[in-house]
Amino acid sequence: MSPITLDYSSRVGLVTGAAQGIGEATALRLAEAGFQVVVADVDEPGIAETVEKIEAAGGTAAAIRADVGDPGQVEAMVAFAVDTYGRLDAAVNNAAIPQRYKLDGDDASLIDRMGLDEWRELVRVDLDGPFYCTRFEVRAMKKCGNGGSIVNLSSSGAAQALEGMAGYCASKKGVIGLTETAAIEFARDAIRVNAVLPGRARTKMNVETMRDDDSEAEKRLDATAPMNRAADPSELADAIFWLCSDLSSYVTGHALVVDGGTTIRHARSGWR
Ligand SMILES: NC(=O)c1ccc[n+]([C@@H]2O[C@H](COP(=O)([O-])OP(=O)(O)OC[C@H]3O[C@@H](n4cnc5c(N)ncnc54)[C@H](O)[C@@H]3O)[C@@H](O)[C@H]2O)c1
Repeated sequence: MSPITLDYSSRVGLVTGAAQGIGEATALRLAEAGFQVVVADVDEPGIAETVEKIEAAGGTAAAIRADVGDPGQVEAMVAFAVDTYGRLDAAVNNAAIPQRYKLDGDDASLIDRMGLDEWRELVRVDLDGPFYCTRFEVRAMKKCGNGGSIVNLSSSGAAQALEGMAGYCASKKGVIGLTETAAIEFARDAIRVNAVLPGRARTKMNVETMRDDDSEAEKRLDATAPMNRAADPSELADAIFWLCSDLSSYVTGHALVVDGGTTIRHARSGWR
């Protein structure tokens, strides 16, 4: 076993969905630890801003536009990381789209009503995306020969049933199956694969899944968390960083819930 290092200056990290939210916070966290970081997203101005923030803080980063639901673009994204910085050590498959909760009396997102195009798009981005990413990242890591760490973003929605969110929940549960299988398939290559399950974090995704007409919704949702607040994206980034670092060198196939205790609480919540 190679010695544990806290110096990540020779390491290269890749983060998808890094234009904002948890992905942006993770890219900043990896760069702060010394990683050279490739940030990817469909939001080009957003990733350019993330690179600016990393560089302003003294870090090193490069951006590439990539739709994670397109295998050709994912292959090109991973090749860009290796071509730019010479190797790939950590990859955070974070990009995803939310499924919007519908209002009382509007059951358009229930399984028997939802549009098939909505279902297919959720699965394309939220499940196919992590699959394509894992596939090409593993190939690159094997070629580099240094092992590696892959972190797939699932959701506490994978540990619950969220009414009106079948496409999202099915994809996020699928991400855990993908993660566990990959962990076993690539353990001998010293590639660790883990999942992080956020609860509610303060990001655009959360705002978009909330009811437009209910200004009290956020407070009610905060109150469902034992800590009476949502997570800051940086709190997710710290957990993801730990899984990318050597400090978690014997952790693989794990689904790490980072939700401030919300999932185990079994409280009645404001979520529909
Ligand atoms: N915020 C939460 O409370 C929460 C809770 C549970 C799980 N999660 C998970 O954490 C991850 C990050 O969530 P967030 O809240 O930061 O999301 P966010 O919506 O703030 O950011 C997601 C990013 O992914 C990008 N993206 C969307 N589709 C893409 C595609 N096809 N290809 C590439 N990039 C794409 C978006 O442009 C955006 O920059 C997601 O996987 C999400 O499902 C978040």
